[in-house]
Amino acid sequence: MSDLDAAWRRLRAAGAAAAARSISGLFEAEPDRLDRLSLQAAGLYLDLSKQPWSAKDLALALDLAQAAGVEAARERLFAGETANPSEGRAALHMALRAPRGADFAAQGEPVSREVEATREAMAAFARAIRSGERAGADGRRFKAIVHIGIGGSDFGPRLVWEALRAPDPDIELRFIANVDPADSAQALSGLDPAETLVVVVSKTFTTQETMANALIARDWLRNALGTDGDAHLVAVSAAPDVAKGFGVRGDQIFGFRDWVGGRYSVWSSVGLSCAIALGPDVFEALLAGGAAMDDHFRLAPLASNAPVLLALAHVFNRNAMDRPVRAVVPYAQRLRLLPNFLQQLEMESNGKRTRTDGRPVTQATAAAVFGDAGTNVQHAFFQLMHQGSDVIPADILAVAQSADGHPASQTKLLANALAQAEALMVGRSEAEVRRSLAKDGLSAGEIDILAPQKTFPGDRPTSFLLMEALTPEALGALIALYEHKTFVEGVLWGINSFDQWGVELGKTLAGHILKDLEGEAPGAHDPSTTALIARLRDGA
Ligand code: F6P
Repeated sequence: MSDLDAAWRRLRAAGAAAAARSISGLFEAEPDRLDRLSLQAAGLYLDLSKQPWSAKDLALALDLAQAAGVEAARERLFAGETANPSEGRAALHMALRAPRGADFAAQGEPVSREVEATREAMAAFARAIRSGERAGADGRRFKAIVHIGIGGSDFGPRLVWEALRAPDPDIELRFIANVDPADSAQALSGLDPAETLVVVVSKTFTTQETMANALIARDWLRNALGTDGDAHLVAVSAAPDVAKGFGVRGDQIFGFRDWVGGRYSVWSSVGLSCAIALGPDVFEALLAGGAAMDDHFRLAPLASNAPVLLALAHVFNRNAMDRPVRAVVPYAQRLRLLPNFLQQLEMESNGKRTRTDGRPVTQATAAAVFGDAGTNVQHAFFQLMHQGSDVIPADILAVAQSADGHPASQTKLLANALAQAEALMVGRSEAEVRRSLAKDGLSAGEIDILAPQKTFPGDRPTSFLLMEALTPEALGALIALYEHKTFVEGVLWGINSFDQWGVELGKTLAGHILKDLEGEAPGAHDPSTTALIARLRDGA
């Protein structure tokens, strides 16, 4: 048996033992638990003490990280080696947010000077738009940006905008992602094309949804402004020639390279809309926060490394305790899109069943992620979190200081975040419930029926993440934290976190079915799909 297999086996045995004891009991047994399991990284405070692992289990998890070669893989990632072998690419998003003067190379090719030049061009463009120096076709200032993109060309910028936007911004930023015409109709509604910049973001510039929406927006501009409307069209792509072919002027195309994965791309020119609408200084601060987390991830020993420990806590739940779902609950309305962002980051990166070497994985991989903003979710899925038949670990996030006023409401929000994490772990024993019901005067029969229903089993783990304020730096650190966590998990499972072959089949079939819906004679499909095509063609 290899060292790695042995490490997995020991971790699974530890998980079985963990299932038979309480997390609260670990605080009594391990007086240094909080100190050992809480850490500060790039301005974020991470508390992993409400996870089910003991000190010994953590040591086993760290052994696993050693045996899987996390340190060497981290070195290779930062060195720009081929981290994405199935596509023959490096994965060098860290180069995009590095301080000026850095020296990254992708597969041996120096990239930092090019990155800096693009960053400067983006900042200059953003400043020119914001100052009005670069204006619309009739000389009016741009008051709105419509960002068109999907997946990695959408989730990151949307999260950043929602997190950092002013309530009443000088330049409004709207997003179109879905090919559903309702999305473009809503996003364009009420905007004046003469004052609107359309930014089409697509790494490939071939994505069906994005191209359909780009055509709608281009027509919207041209119908109002004639060919002058093209001055309102900007493209961000790793395929600049395709963007040019679409009619975007050369000086309005911002590039990035194929070593930037879509879901890791918010730091590149994919963030242009945010750089304009929030200002280039805010965007630079976001990058600085990401770079601070990179330094931490690269330099901190595994035992005090936030992305590594967050990944190991997840793997302990996922693999040692067979928990296939995880909730992400930001107690911050401004971070309500974080779960959506993480769905792509984690599930597209690590939703794999084949290892990098082509063999089947030996362990279950990415958990399904779901979530939304607290406190809203307390009135939705928290019943199941507390008393459902499955244990669903959660990441709970909170921001100490709100920039949105109303400190009394903010304190209530924080109280709820802390209370839920505590309640999930501690629960409420049946004995305690019975005592309380008896005190209320219920009969023994009534207590027998009610007490089990009012009992909370507890031992539902959380990772608690606290930031002082939702600054651009803190947000950058947060996103980079989850990127590196996802990478570490990929290394533990032996999979390539940077490809996404699983999205291809549906795309190909959608192309065929599109022809079936539009064309003369539909092709062959399974009976259910054939019947659905017939209903849609016949207008049934
Ligand atoms: O969902 C599949 C995917 O390829 C993602 O990886 C990517 O972020 C998204 O589509 C959009 O791709 P593009 O930026 O090329 O339009």
